Amino acid sequence: MSTNTSVSQVADLETPLKFAYWVPNVSGGLVVSTIEQRTSWDFDYNKKLARIAENSGFEYALTQTRYAASYGADKQHEATSFSLALLGATEKLKVISAVHPGMWHPGVLAKFIITADHISGGRAAVNVVSGWLKDEFVNFGLEWLEHDERYVRTEEFIRVLRGLWTEQEYSQSGKYYNINNFTLNPAPLDVPGRAHPEIFFGGNSTAAQAAAGRTADWYFSNGKDLAGFEDNISGVTAAAAAVGRTPKFGLNGFVIARDTEAEAKDTLREIVAKAHRPAVEGFRAAVQEAGASTKDGKGMWADSSYEDLVQYNDGFKTGLIGTPEQIAQRIVDFKKIGVNLMLTCYLHFQEEVEAFGRNVLPIVRELEADLARKNGTELNTDLLPETNFEGATL
Ligand SMILES: Cc1cc2nc3c(=O)[nH]c(=O)nc-3n(C[C@H](O)[C@H](O)[C@H](O)COP(=O)(O)O)c2cc1C
Repeated sequence: MSTNTSVSQVADLETPLKFAYWVPNVSGGLVVSTIEQRTSWDFDYNKKLARIAENSGFEYALTQTRYAASYGADKQHEATSFSLALLGATEKLKVISAVHPGMWHPGVLAKFIITADHISGGRAAVNVVSGWLKDEFVNFGLEWLEHDERYVRTEEFIRVLRGLWTEQEYSQSGKYYNINNFTLNPAPLDVPGRAHPEIFFGGNSTAAQAAAGRTADWYFSNGKDLAGFEDNISGVTAAAAAVGRTPKFGLNGFVIARDTEAEAKDTLREIVAKAHRPAVEGFRAAVQEAGASTKDGKGMWADSSYEDLVQYNDGFKTGLIGTPEQIAQRIVDFKKIGVNLMLTCYLHFQEEVEAFGRNVLPIVRELEADLARKNGTELNTDLLPETNFEGATL
């Protein structure tokens, strides 16, 4: 694996990287393959996973929103209710609930999240996703907007959320939503370090980058290599700078940490060899509604190979596959180009989340401290999440 030595201007070397995991709230695991996956989508498994994660150095969990099977995920638990239950089962973990603007009225969602925020002591967050699975919308009788138009609606949606969370007697009129002089009581909790529940944004296309830059607190990308992620960051940063904003960046990666690089690569080969070919091909057809359908043909899955699509968020591209040392180095290479948060997924979530906390995170922290020093600054260790492997042990 190549390493990157230069440090970008947008990199924040003082703040420790944050870690998140994908909540497996849909069936079938995070790869569409018949390889063994000791991961379950049920609540008991997820409750235990969430507790393991918050004790192993993970600060966030991200739920998925899915209403229908397609590309595996034959069964799905609804994202916001599942997230609320996970908040109730944990003490520190922030749970980011995926939400589709086309499925929610932003005022109803704003109210729901305020309630979740109060119940959880200020740990609720959202990931606003604009959608790709056309059948979910069409078969619900909802309007399916053309690609870039979805982002027009998403921007309005996020403005409503932020407006209702921060202002009294809020009004906004637009193409998709009209809010008239509305005050939500109570307001979200007053938590240091955030103005309101955090707003994440998932999308890769040019329209997604521009909308995220103008409105989101966090931009989430599908899996990417270093050059691919740099491209995303520059698009988002340019849009953000034009309106004086500085969003943070999260990146998805599928982690295969093994004692040797050869073992890790063998596992990847086995995942791909045992992939469910018709499902992967079906997915490739469905996601033509995403980036590939845009004018410039850029965006999520537009340049993904068959192998990439076996992990449905392109997580192999990020290259978190090897020994703990190799993975830690790769993660810090992404920090150098501006990543603030790594969103991770695994074959066997409970055991691998704990192993990641024990074996990979300590090396990441050492490398981060080193990197900061070499660049004339210090890693702010006060911001490091506490670990408690006694509490984490399976
Ligand atoms: C981190 C992340 C999480 C996502 N989660 C979901 C989800 O839960 N449900 C969903 O329908 N789409 C999800 N998406 C996909 C987006 O809805 C969108 O279709 C995709 O990012 C394609 O965007 P693009 O066409 O602008 O590249 C997610 C995307 C990212 C990057």
